[in-house]
Amino acid sequence: MIDKRILITGCGGMLGDALFPVIKSNFAHVVATDIDVSTNWLEKLDVRDTTQCQKIMSSFSPDIVFHLAALTDLESCEKKPQEAYNTNTLGTKNMAMFTEKSKSTFIYISTAGIFDGQKEFYNDFDKPNPINIYGKSKYNGEIFVQKNVSKHYIFRAGWMMGGGPQKDKKFINKIYKQIKRGQKEIFIVDDKIGSPTYTVDFSKSMLNVIKSGHFGLYNQVCKGNCSRFDVANAFVKFLNVQDEIKLIKVNSDYFKKEYFSPRPNSERLINLKLRQIKKDIMRDWQDCLEEYSDVYKKDLNEKI
Ligand SMILES: NC(=O)c1ccc[n+]([C@@H]2O[C@H](COP(=O)([O-])OP(=O)(O)OC[C@H]3O[C@@H](n4cnc5c(N)ncnc54)[C@H](OP(=O)(O)O)[C@@H]3O)[C@@H](O)[C@H]2O)c1
Repeated sequence: MIDKRILITGCGGMLGDALFPVIKSNFAHVVATDIDVSTNWLEKLDVRDTTQCQKIMSSFSPDIVFHLAALTDLESCEKKPQEAYNTNTLGTKNMAMFTEKSKSTFIYISTAGIFDGQKEFYNDFDKPNPINIYGKSKYNGEIFVQKNVSKHYIFRAGWMMGGGPQKDKKFINKIYKQIKRGQKEIFIVDDKIGSPTYTVDFSKSMLNVIKSGHFGLYNQVCKGNCSRFDVANAFVKFLNVQDEIKLIKVNSDYFKKEYFSPRPNSERLINLKLRQIKKDIMRDWQDCLEEYSDVYKKDLNEKI
């Protein structure tokens, strides 16, 4: 056990679900917070509220702050840009500012969505150029942290997979919900490529890098690259429903009403810096998806 004090914001979400057990089993004192206090291991903290941020920072005095809190729904961010900037940029500023004041370490989770997707893949040194509100609000957070927090880590994730049927707000659970509803045909976009990122590997890797003391910014995604269709195809196979479900390839225009936020054509990241410091422990996305699918397989069988 490491005798350090850890504060986590936004811990009730997809990533928090995997990060909390990793941190709990490595550090002596952990306080996990979220705006939505749905379980008894979470304390209330709204990162937009400067007073609340200041209060918890001075009462708990963390050595390390994992800042996960964010609005992650791209369409909500487009509809309510002010709320997106309030949470994703100003909320980050609040937590980063108090962390710097107390000379602690700040960990910020960023996204492949800060790139415009014009290139096939992006390494840690490529220049961001976000094309939607979510990406802009997250990139502004990155800039603030880099400029103002002496001891910081920034980890950029790709297409996040994690949290299971209850917490996963993203692609895998959207596919799963259609399968569970009994849909036999599922339409999947085939014109977007990216790097799946398993929350379990992402959490373990953050800890691994932090223990090394190599501060800085890192792309941190699973190995291998794929399209959304490849992910859906692998997922139905892992669930063993490939003979019952027909996946139909479409381009993004098919969903343009529902998913109206602009999305980069490529969100593929390369973990160049992690490799350089010999810390790239992220597994292949298919191995991770196979492992992650178990929780859905169980849920599906319980239904039957
Ligand atoms: N999901 C992805 O594909 C993805 C990809 C790259 C990077 N990231 C980044 O990874 C981090 C973790 O996201 P996640 O994937 O775990 O998403 P998530 O499931 O949406 O978790 C974020 C958590 O933050 C909470 N939150 C929202 N506003 C808050 C506020 N004002 N104060 C405190 N907490 C607040 C959310 O609560 P509500 O659910 O009530 O809003 C949610 O529990 C975020 O910084 C995100 O930008 C995510």
